[in-house]
Amino acid sequence: MHQMAPSPAAFKSAGPLSGRVRVPGDKSISHRSLMLSALAVGTSSVEGLLEGEDVLATAAAMRAMGARIERGADGRWTIHGVGVGGLLQPQQALDMGNSGTSTRLLMGLVASHAITATFIGDASLSKRPMNRVIDPLSLMGAEFTASPGGRLPLVLRGIAPAVPIEYRLPVASAQVKSALLLAGLNTPGITRVVEPVPTRDHSERMLRGFGAELTVDQDGTGARVISIRGEAELRPQHIVVPGDPSSAAFPVVAALLVPGSDVIVENVGLNPTRAGLFDVLRMMGADIELVDAREVGGEPVADLRVRGSSLHGVEVPPDIAPSMIDEFPILFVAASVAKGRTVARGLEELRVKESDRLALMARGLARLGVRVEESKDGLIIDGTDGALLAANGPVEIAAELDHRIAMSFAVAGLVSANTVTIDDMAPVATSFPTFQRLMQSLGATVA
Ligand code: S3P
Repeated sequence: MHQMAPSPAAFKSAGPLSGRVRVPGDKSISHRSLMLSALAVGTSSVEGLLEGEDVLATAAAMRAMGARIERGADGRWTIHGVGVGGLLQPQQALDMGNSGTSTRLLMGLVASHAITATFIGDASLSKRPMNRVIDPLSLMGAEFTASPGGRLPLVLRGIAPAVPIEYRLPVASAQVKSALLLAGLNTPGITRVVEPVPTRDHSERMLRGFGAELTVDQDGTGARVISIRGEAELRPQHIVVPGDPSSAAFPVVAALLVPGSDVIVENVGLNPTRAGLFDVLRMMGADIELVDAREVGGEPVADLRVRGSSLHGVEVPPDIAPSMIDEFPILFVAASVAKGRTVARGLEELRVKESDRLALMARGLARLGVRVEESKDGLIIDGTDGALLAANGPVEIAAELDHRIAMSFAVAGLVSANTVTIDDMAPVATSFPTFQRLMQSLGATVA
């Protein structure tokens, strides 16, 4: 969360990858487990929490607003909640680091408390649009003083009681949906979010698990209507966080692309609102086997056995996009060595993630020698049919503080004839602190 010296790393092709690995806990579920535990009455515990910088930013903010949060020597986290409505005025600005999820969800929580909080973040986060949460939270009565364009740093003056609203999401965003549901927790009456395009449903699942009165219906247009009754009393829970499919995506694609690989990634969360990448990879001819499918903490989970596969290009079905929204950078790497053309459209949202992911992927892949065409809302990629990337010499990639751009090009390095150097791997610690070690344990060459 503080600026550290850049930490470059070089990746290049090696022999087949093999072994059995476990990815860290799901980032989305980890954030929510801390926030809801902090609002329950009593002591909750969380196993398998992602100890990445983004989630630690959430923990620090919840502590600053009164929750007691401790990490046990066994890695289990304990959270003593303050009760819904019990958040305290933070004494300092809340430093959100690189984390859009922390920022937007916590803005929702603060909005319906009579407290004032300042939100700050790093250079990447300070470029990201916050009007998508400012607008609906203002309708509930909260007041904002934001930087130009509705950006961080911003000051939020919450209100209690807030006004319950019904809000139709103008962008498909789980963060906006969740911000409103969390604001609704401490708002009298029913707060309703209408979601025309379904996004990840971890908030709904977990709010119910904590005892909130939450229903999901469909309206006449087929949109999901999520209603939460406010002034809820949350009961403390024991939460087990499954492995993050968005992190698993990197070793999975690496194993698919490096010929002869055979890798097992254990404990991968396969919530249908998150697992779109694995479906698209299968459409491309990927050999991904689900082993020991089970349920962990109310979420479907399996071990994935992945073998090196010859992939072919596909047209990515637009309705799958929300269930793999964070996985497009690594999908584009897979498409780059597939046989034939991959077309992905309807992805304007990728331009306002931790970086402009369409622009950075198009630029970086072109430098690796891939034929790629960027449009307003997507990429068209003509794959090399298995030929190695970076055939004309070493390439350096600027990751622009985007963990998933860094990891995607690291995987591209494993199928490159020359080294691919990422200028700074430090941002990877926001979501997947063990990435380099894990990839090395599978046989990847990292310098
Ligand atoms: C997240 C939602 C997604 C995703 C982000 C995490 C969440 O963003 O990109 O990494 O935990 O709710 P959107 O809110 O834009 O869908």
